[in-house]
Amino acid sequence: MSSEDLRRSIMAALARLRHPVSGRDLVAGGHVQNLEVDEKGAARFQFLLRPEDPGDLVKEARAAVEAIDGVTSVKINVQLPQMTPSGGGGRQGGLQPGSVPAPTPQPGVLSGVRHVIAVSSGKGGVGKSMVAANVAAAFAQRGHRVGLMDADIYGPNIPLMFGVQRRPSVTGEKGKELIEPLEAHGVKLMSLGFLLEEDQPAIMRGPLISGILKQFLEQVDWGDLDVMVVDMPPGTGDAQLSLVQTIDLDGAVMVTTPQQVATGDVRRGIRMFERVNTRVLGIVENMSGMACPHCAEVVDVFGSGGGEKLAAEMDVPFLGRVPLDPAVASAGDAGAPTVISAPRSAAAAALDAIVATLEEKLGAGAA
Ligand SMILES: Nc1ncnc2c1ncn2[C@@H]1O[C@H](COP(=O)(O)OP(=O)(O)OP(=O)(O)O)[C@@H](O)[C@H]1O
Ligand SMILES: [Mg+2]
Repeated sequence: MSSEDLRRSIMAALARLRHPVSGRDLVAGGHVQNLEVDEKGAARFQFLLRPEDPGDLVKEARAAVEAIDGVTSVKINVQLPQMTPSGGGGRQGGLQPGSVPAPTPQPGVLSGVRHVIAVSSGKGGVGKSMVAANVAAAFAQRGHRVGLMDADIYGPNIPLMFGVQRRPSVTGEKGKELIEPLEAHGVKLMSLGFLLEEDQPAIMRGPLISGILKQFLEQVDWGDLDVMVVDMPPGTGDAQLSLVQTIDLDGAVMVTTPQQVATGDVRRGIRMFERVNTRVLGIVENMSGMACPHCAEVVDVFGSGGGEKLAAEMDVPFLGRVPLDPAVASAGDAGAPTVISAPRSAAAAALDAIVATLEEKLGAGAA
């Protein structure tokens, strides 16, 4: 079937789906926009999800398109028309209503990148950056071309974790300048922090994320990458949501600690990703037990296992536990993620096993 025929079949299938409340079909109701189908049968479109719409609508649309013969993949970029003020999350607290510009879907922003995964958490300080850095480094150790994007504008620290402190250089002629990522331990690094003046107050930063991120991403010379890991700002508010929509993610990894499991933050985070139709690749329970500095044993100090229960309850995969490990703390001083600076530590073993699972989930050989 030609891609034009396939396009027509997809539109027809979507026009057969009815909105449960309004009764109108999804095409007539204006939910489906900018459908593109390439010659390989990969379909992508934008889906307008209004606040009153059930989140399942996107799932139904996806299922209907996936069921069409000749469609090899479906990528849906969910658009929320109007965003509410931030409900929680981020250290900075809620943003003012209207301070976040409505997101514009950005197909092709990272066109040379095969898989984009976000590392996220409901609250700060749970080890999100540590997990993001190690996931990126472990993918690189496994022979993949990897980028790591530090999107945590509240406290960017990824470049430091990789032992690089330079500012990136800019190449190319005037008007077509490209920012060169820094590179360390086989990973291309970029930080939104490079764009911000050090004394810029945090309150100015939220609106900046969504406003400049697309342009920033387009102007970074990422080249071709197998995997891009994004260290997200903590929280589940508007800033995070619009970031997710701008980047067009393949999936998200949620990091929690045993103590955080009970607070509802992780649940909120998972729901945020589900609402915009982003696959939750799984939950990592960090600081889960303590690695004995003298033997390979992990001692359960604060209780663990909550992450696994939560994963089962929310019907998302559990990716594994990472113990509290002195090797993680000393990785900062070494200027290299733990899987590189202390590959035989309990934490490194746990992190590498998590990456093996992620590699599998992203598709054999594809990551
Ligand atoms: N498994 C671990 N063992 C020992 N120390 C850890 C572990 N995980 C994280 N840490 C330490 O805890 C601190 C917080 O970790 P990290 O910066 O990765 O968290 P975060 O969620 O990114 O925090 P933020 O919200 O500040 O960005 C760091 O000093 C880190 O070295
Ligand atoms: Mg961090």
